Amino acid sequence: MATTAPSLMNQQLDALLYQETNLVANLANASALLNSTYDDLNWAGFYLYNETTGELDLGPFQGKVACMHIKVGAGVVGTAYDTQTNQRVQDVHQFPGHIACDSASNSEIVIPITKDGRKIGVLDVDSPSLDRFSAENEAELSEFVAILTNHID
Ligand code: SME
Repeated sequence: MATTAPSLMNQQLDALLYQETNLVANLANASALLNSTYDDLNWAGFYLYNETTGELDLGPFQGKVACMHIKVGAGVVGTAYDTQTNQRVQDVHQFPGHIACDSASNSEIVIPITKDGRKIGVLDVDSPSLDRFSAENEAELSEFVAILTNHID
């Protein structure tokens, strides 16, 4: 079976992070790359699990100021982390417990990040448009996270 080459954005991510392992630097540039590649976004970034508090803390991102802490299981972010499943939400206002950090958000996709069985956090991407994220976007962002984890110690 032929394997599909990574998308241009994902090739760029892999090149950008070549021989780079600093978590904050890598996540910062990953969020910048994503935000400048995808159109129609109002927020793109990361929430990282805090071992001490047991919550998800705001990580590097592009967009307006956002919620600093999210409880595991709460909102789209906390649900993705808790269930370790991608959350592709067409209309965030229909999602039980959605956390409105930025009132401009209408759709959202969240992808869990794990490394060697360690649940690191999530990638969170928001759009002001309803139903912004396609199944193809989900596949590309899942690959984006997989590449990213190769560059995290
Ligand atoms: N809307 C998210 C919270 C994070 S912000 O979108 C940046 C949620 O419901 O989990």
